[in-house]
Amino acid sequence: MTQIMRRFDPKEIREDFPILSRRIGGKPLAYLDNAATTQKPRQVLEAMQEFYEQKNANVHRAVHTLSYEATVAYEAAHRRVAEFIHASGPEEIIFTRNATEALNLVAYAWGLWELREGDEVLLTVMEHHSNLVPWLALRRLKGISLKFIDVNERGLLKLEELSRLLSKRTRLVGCIYASNVLGTVNPVEEIIEAAHRFGALVLVDGAQAVPHMPVDVKELDCDFLAASGHKMLGPTGTGFLYAKRELLEEMEPFLYGGDMIETVTLEAATWNKLPWKFEAGTANIAGGIGLAAAVDYLERLGMEAVYDHERRLLEFAWERLARVEGVKLYGPAPGEAARLGIISFNLEGVHPHDLAMVLDSEGIAIRSGHHCAQPLMARLGMEFAARASFYIYNTEEEVERLAAAVEEAKAAFRVRS
Ligand SMILES: Cc1ncc(COP(=O)(O)O)c(C=O)c1O
Repeated sequence: MTQIMRRFDPKEIREDFPILSRRIGGKPLAYLDNAATTQKPRQVLEAMQEFYEQKNANVHRAVHTLSYEATVAYEAAHRRVAEFIHASGPEEIIFTRNATEALNLVAYAWGLWELREGDEVLLTVMEHHSNLVPWLALRRLKGISLKFIDVNERGLLKLEELSRLLSKRTRLVGCIYASNVLGTVNPVEEIIEAAHRFGALVLVDGAQAVPHMPVDVKELDCDFLAASGHKMLGPTGTGFLYAKRELLEEMEPFLYGGDMIETVTLEAATWNKLPWKFEAGTANIAGGIGLAAAVDYLERLGMEAVYDHERRLLEFAWERLARVEGVKLYGPAPGEAARLGIISFNLEGVHPHDLAMVLDSEGIAIRSGHHCAQPLMARLGMEFAARASFYIYNTEEEVERLAAAVEEAKAAFRVRS
């Protein structure tokens, strides 16, 4: 069992992240773009380097020692991820390149084969494009219809509409667990229960939730859950899909080729056992091993402690930014709804790209843009926003620097206008 750290000290944590000692334009880096991707601790980098230096070989293919050791490490990585989200076992975890690929896997390997004309897929207007665009494509291809759970003015899902939107024709409900724009944590348990009453499956987009709070897929009883490894300290090029074993057994494969087959003749093929049926071709073996090291790191901290730390930063940042005249913060205040450490905001009269450039000159990295959620942005009456998002290594000093830099940007743009 992983040992839990006795105290949560972001300053100590920072020592594990070489990149955080960088200076940008002469200023210490304050990395506040964690919702896009997180930085990687030494432990993850070392796990991958050790793999390449000591074990590098292809998995599941050869009888030699290196291949055996690589296979053991890669399979153990699936087991670590399964334990992290409380799946039944590694056969329920498919490694993908990112969350987008995991979501597409459901659309291709389940939707493409299962959905018929007239079937309904229910999504929310809050979805990231990666859990919307694949279903738009299936609508064109299969003649399914899409329905959407709306958000209210505060950016919360209108769950009162759920019973009207669900029907016997609903085959799948796709729901973002935590919004990458607003940081709001949606009551997915309620949605899952309601969907199951209508016999629909539920696909949870956990890309923003899994890195920041305890997630238990058994307790949720979701059918699918997608997540990004690179947003939870893992290397880029990693993500995963959780799915209930019985679904994966019945589903057709996603990609076809080597490693995912059991037998092949010129007439037909049969499929490998789970999860390899869904991992065709040479995998990102080092990436998977790095992801397992990331899971070890997070478990040592404890996900409750991760959540609490970010919650403190969120409350502090919300309060500090709200004090800056001309700043509009989006979504409900932290006290009003469940939220993670993501804040989207705009500074009156300043384009968020300009604001992000000014902040960059202060060494502060934030995101600006539509955040791959154009329907939500439109619904909330904005095209672009600035976004600050926190993680385990961020500090109150960095939040203070963010607020001070926004204040300075305001003054600078006023002077120029
Ligand atoms: C909620 C959500 N879903 C899906 C994705 C896509 O993740 P990836 O970049 O790993 O494909 C993101 C990325 O920002 C996200 O925030």
